[in-house]
Amino acid sequence: MAATFMALLCLVALSKGIDIDSLKLEQVLILSRHNVRTPLTAKLESYSSKLWPKWNASAGYLTEKGTRLEGYMGKYIAEWLDSEDFIEGCPNKDDVLIYANTKPRTLDTAKAFAESAFQSCNITVQHYENIEIFDPLFLPILHNTTEANKNQVREEMENKLKEMNLTDSYIELSRILNLRTSDICKKLYLCELHLRRNEIILEDGEEPNVSGPLDIGNSIVDSFIMSYYEGMPTSEVAWGQIKTDQQWDLISKICKENQNIRFNLTKGAKDIARPLVKYMFDIFKAGTPKFTLLVGHDSNMNSVIRAFDFQPFVLPEQFEPFPIGGKVIFQKWSDVSGQYLKVEYVYPTTKQLRDGERVSLLQPPKKVLLELKGCEISKSGYCPWTEFMKLNEYA
Ligand SMILES: *[C@@H]1O[C@H](CO)[C@@H](O)[C@H](O)[C@H]1NC(C)=O
Ligand SMILES: *[C@@H]1O[C@H](CO)[C@@H](O)[C@H](O)[C@H]1NC(C)=O
Ligand SMILES: *[C@@H]1O[C@H](CO)[C@@H](O)[C@H](O)[C@H]1NC(C)=O
Ligand SMILES: *[C@@H]1O[C@H](CO)[C@@H](O)[C@H](O)[C@H]1NC(C)=O
Ligand SMILES: *[C@@H]1O[C@H](CO)[C@@H](O)[C@H](O)[C@H]1NC(C)=O
Ligand SMILES: *[C@@H]1O[C@H](CO)[C@@H](O)[C@H](O)[C@H]1NC(C)=O
Repeated sequence: MAATFMALLCLVALSKGIDIDSLKLEQVLILSRHNVRTPLTAKLESYSSKLWPKWNASAGYLTEKGTRLEGYMGKYIAEWLDSEDFIEGCPNKDDVLIYANTKPRTLDTAKAFAESAFQSCNITVQHYENIEIFDPLFLPILHNTTEANKNQVREEMENKLKEMNLTDSYIELSRILNLRTSDICKKLYLCELHLRRNEIILEDGEEPNVSGPLDIGNSIVDSFIMSYYEGMPTSEVAWGQIKTDQQWDLISKICKENQNIRFNLTKGAKDIARPLVKYMFDIFKAGTPKFTLLVGHDSNMNSVIRAFDFQPFVLPEQFEPFPIGGKVIFQKWSDVSGQYLKVEYVYPTTKQLRDGERVSLLQPPKKVLLELKGCEISKSGYCPWTEFMKLNEYA
């Protein structure tokens, strides 16, 4: 009787999936975007005659607040690793790899994370030897530069451009800028963003790019978003012209489309992200290091996510498609019957960023469960590790 009952219990447990209480964390690999930076484009003055906010650092640098916020993320991740008995105190040097792109904002983000997560542990940030150039591992370019491949990619980008309709976003942005009174309107007759054409630029060794209103709008909205995160007074964030979340959603659609057209590509993303995806799979195959943090850019998040082929997902409480300071966390878990993969997108909300909130296990950043198309997850979010490893066609 008791045996039948136990067998039944086991069956129930099995049908429910994995017993998450008995799972042990074995390996963690984080792909992260850098934290809050100054706007990437410094020369925006011609797009509005209004006074643009002043930034302390030159274009594209991690801000002091960005450093602080990344420290909070590091602390939070360390708390989580400790709570899972994964890493307590200073880790063994061989157990940890922190690797960043050569840009100051990615290096500084990695340093802020390391110094906070592994405080006084002397964990150094690794990077490509030549700090003057973009690390080829992170450089989001087409590697297959045959005409056939470039044509395929160009065609997909063109189709995406055709499907896109940003008319309402451009009109709202032109209103915020008062574009009609700007220098660019007076001198170059660019007075209406929505009436201009976009051009695809595909050059060997360069990022897939789009020039025109999409690129201009993206640079301007990026500067608004960063000034909002940075905590500038409302009057200095888009001159106080953005008052509702609907307005933020409308104009940040421009940044979403810019990312979508350039890097969220059916075939192109696999080619663009190939070096990073291979690097990641090599770490999964080796089973070491235990903990890896890779710090790159939104273009890396986008192309890697697309290359792995995840089910569509939404990231609530954010304007950006790949939030600043956001992290995709690949986790390998195990129990007596096997090993499993769980993937989560962990990111600070716009409010947490603007208010400079500390995050912790009690007040965590936002967490969204991801599912690979090729590795169906259980109710609790795990898929078999062996299925995941089969997706590695890059070996
Ligand atoms: C610029 O630096 C000053 C002094 O360090 C600081 O008070 C101010 O908040 C900084 N502004 C920005 C936008 O970072
Ligand atoms: C910190 O690590 C570096 C390189 O790993 C090493 O050269 C240095 O001696 C270490 N410093 C301390 C204080 O342990
Ligand atoms: C490059 O892309 C083309 C077109 O998709 C393909 O036929 C070719 O096999 C690719 N070359 C390599 C080395 O992957
Ligand atoms: C784009 O959207 C606007 C406003 O929503 C609409 O008026 C216009 O017809 C759309 N254009 C195309 C080509 O679909
Ligand atoms: C993309 O094109 C725009 C417009 O020509 C240019 O300003 C920008 O630097 C280019 N971006 C990259 C990453 O090449
Ligand atoms: C990427 O493209 C797919 C469709 O091709 C879409 O479902 C998904 O939402 C896009 N992702 C982003 C972040 O725009």
